[in-house]
Amino acid sequence: MKLDADVFSTFAKDWALLTAGDRKSFNCMTIAWGGLGTLWGKPVVTVYVRQSRYTKKFMDFNEYFTVSQFPEDYREDLTLLGKISGRDGDKLAQTKLHPVEILDGDAITYQEAKRTLVCRKLYWDEFDYDNLPEDVQLKFYNVGDAIHTMYIAEVVDILER
Ligand SMILES: Cc1cc2nc3c(=O)[nH]c(=O)nc-3n(C[C@H](O)[C@H](O)[C@H](O)COP(=O)(O)O)c2cc1C
Repeated sequence: MKLDADVFSTFAKDWALLTAGDRKSFNCMTIAWGGLGTLWGKPVVTVYVRQSRYTKKFMDFNEYFTVSQFPEDYREDLTLLGKISGRDGDKLAQTKLHPVEILDGDAITYQEAKRTLVCRKLYWDEFDYDNLPEDVQLKFYNVGDAIHTMYIAEVVDILER
């Protein structure tokens, strides 16, 4: 398994779609924060999900999730999926994306994805507000702003096309 990506720009500049849940029920959201590396001898990805996201419920109840990246033509779709919530209706129906089942329906990616990291959850925890630098507290966690939960997952497969 090999991943050719600039770790400092692949999330921040290119963005990705985080999808959690299975064929019966899933939800997705755009992400621009993430990490790639090694933990406990495994290739891992880390994503950060604010508690207020509808996707969080799916992250918590499912063992697998996917991190999918798309050609530039889909930037508008990622903008939409990062603006409206699956809580309020079928947001995927408003995009050009077509979900595809993988892992016998235990995870979902998209026909249009150029790359999908297939992820198995290993560890998750919430940021401790008191341990955050003050500038981060002020910029990202103003009063009422939900904290992020980080999810570290083993990358069990990389699908590229
Ligand atoms: C470019 C971009 C990057 C984003 N990155 C993150 C992220 O890393 N973590 C996060 O919690 N929300 C992030 N968001 C916000 C969620 O994608 C957004 O709130 C989304 O509507 C949540 O959908 P949901 O309620 O259906 O889960 C990002 C949004 C955009 C547009």
